[in-house]
Amino acid sequence: MPANKKLLFLPGDGIGPEVMTQVRRVIDWMDNKRQVSFDITEGLIGGAAIDATGSSLPDETLADAKSADAVLMGAVGGPKWEKLPFEQQPERGLLGIRKELGLFANLRPAIVFDALADASSLKLDLVKGLDIMIVRELTGGIYFGEPRGIEVLPDGRRKGINTLTYTSDEVERIGRVGFDLAEKRGGKLCSIDKANVLETTVMWREVMESIKGDYPGVELSHMYVDNAAMQLVRNPKQFDVVVTTNMFGDILSDCAAMLTGSLGMLPSASLGEADASGRRAALYEPVHGSAPDIAGQGIANPLATILSFSMLLRYSFDMADDADMIDKAAENVLAGGLRTADIMEEGKARVSTETMGEAIISELEKLAG
Ligand code: IPM
Ligand code: MG
Repeated sequence: MPANKKLLFLPGDGIGPEVMTQVRRVIDWMDNKRQVSFDITEGLIGGAAIDATGSSLPDETLADAKSADAVLMGAVGGPKWEKLPFEQQPERGLLGIRKELGLFANLRPAIVFDALADASSLKLDLVKGLDIMIVRELTGGIYFGEPRGIEVLPDGRRKGINTLTYTSDEVERIGRVGFDLAEKRGGKLCSIDKANVLETTVMWREVMESIKGDYPGVELSHMYVDNAAMQLVRNPKQFDVVVTTNMFGDILSDCAAMLTGSLGMLPSASLGEADASGRRAALYEPVHGSAPDIAGQGIANPLATILSFSMLLRYSFDMADDADMIDKAAENVLAGGLRTADIMEEGKARVSTETMGEAIISELEKLAG
């Protein structure tokens, strides 16, 4: 069968390459067993790209990303590149590819697998069955607002400047992603802002209110971000879909991630606008970073990246059955007691990155029958 889906793989730095290797195995398995075939190109991003080309986002990577149907990324960054000037650091590559591909909608599910409910730092009954979807705006807000920089004042003091800006169309665009998801899920959308202090988010709230009439099946609520941070650890199950700005989403998604017990479990999708034919740019990546402290030891948890690949199947290729099967395989492997170091609990079997990947494949074999 001819390769019909073009993927760009960006392993990146630290544990990125190790966890991506396990996704390759899942893809090889699918190539053999399912009616689908992937054409994979590999590219450079982050520190690895800096070492090879001097740029954290080489032109070739960007061109390949634009022509791919979907991009799967590992992680970027590490101590090796921390001393580089700000503009040259690996993270610029990640922010650059998000911006260049127009990936404005970042979907970060925080799901607690039953088998891992004990790994959460919160009490079992607070997190058991938790299933939140955080929708983070990803190409605007204070991350990209102008003016920005560090100035030297006439008296020699320095002044750091970043600007929180949103236009109403940017808010509407991300707001509708939140409403659409809420419609398909539990029917609740909580928009998070700081409308008691920041005018930008006063407007954010007004825009959310102005479009809610288009979604009669969704109940819209608003919450200030400080309260949201508290509510996330007080009673996380009150949330279904959350929609928020770039920076609030960055912070709250790490908080939500920890509710699940491990950052090593969480996938994400970053989506662009659909064109007339329904095609849209998309990048999938685990929420965890490059974890330089454990890189190269073969102990990283590959599940967040494998689950990111499942999101890729679901959102870029409409392959919900295959995505469900991968999610189920992860659930079963955990229920069977296998744990990588990050989610290790007493009485469970500690396994390597590779063994976890292998276990997913044998579980897929079983599920496929
Ligand atoms: C994330 C990360 C990035 C961000 C960094 C690495 C630039 O924290 O994806 O949440 O702040 O968006
Ligand atoms: Mg972050």
